Amino acid sequence: MIFAVTNAKGGIGKTTVAVNIAAGFADKGRPTLLIDLDPQGHASRCFVDGELERDVSDLIMDKPSLASKSVIPTEYPSLHIVPATIELTETAELLSSRIRREERLLRALDPLREPYKNIIIDCPPSLGILTYNAIHAADLLIIPIQPGMGAVMGIAALLEAAQELRDETLVPYRILINMFDIRTSRTNAIIDELIEDYRQKVFRTIISKSEALNQANIAGEPVWKSMRNSKSAEEFDALCEEILKLRLR
Ligand SMILES: Nc1ncnc2c1ncn2[C@@H]1O[C@H](COP(=O)(O)OP(=O)(O)OP(=O)(O)O)[C@@H](O)[C@H]1O
Ligand SMILES: [Mg+2]
Repeated sequence: MIFAVTNAKGGIGKTTVAVNIAAGFADKGRPTLLIDLDPQGHASRCFVDGELERDVSDLIMDKPSLASKSVIPTEYPSLHIVPATIELTETAELLSSRIRREERLLRALDPLREPYKNIIIDCPPSLGILTYNAIHAADLLIIPIQPGMGAVMGIAALLEAAQELRDETLVPYRILINMFDIRTSRTNAIIDELIEDYRQKVFRTIISKSEALNQANIAGEPVWKSMRNSKSAEEFDALCEEILKLRLR
């Protein structure tokens, strides 16, 4: 299965979710591939150090012989990553003039579907050509939102783009509530708003706001590394289980 973690809104936890579900699946012994599709390279920084010679650009441009070389092992035996570098910005510009430019990643990932049971794509915070490639490749869109004013803003546009791109009436997606803070009364209002519009499409699992998780992010670590017994680890474990049990369509 290919999952794209996407939302055009910045800073709502896409990378946090992508990194932790990828590490969570790998922790269960499932061969997992994390694809960093954001030129900011935040997900990459959690797993690889130093200068990178190759990045996901090799996978989406016409360099099939280099494609397998852009897959890098991590310290987790079941987790491999295709990292992103700032070069991806240029790749996105080059892509814009190519034919079938939204289908590049889908085609590149085809041979990787067999060796990797789960492929997770971390998207950039924009609805551009890179995100379109992720949407095109995905079996499920995972849309994190942060409770608060305007949390669901942009979801309709995202789903509309997905529908148009894939020429399907029903694009499988689930909304994930991230940074939930029980002390904030506004969160209840937003959850009501969500249930109204997207009733069946919200993950039961909710990821709470957690300073420990924030610190793990700053240290560039998935929660499993040094906070295995934390509430956040428990929540991400539950999320992985929920994802694995999904019956799509
Ligand atoms: N559940 C959470 N609890 C506390 N902090 C969180 C949580 N989820 C994310 N954060 C923090 O919020 C910030 C943004 O998270 P993240 O980088 O995952 O968002 P993003 O959507 O990938 O951002 P961008 O749009 O820039 O790619 C980070 O500092 C991260 O540590
Ligand atoms: Mg990010």
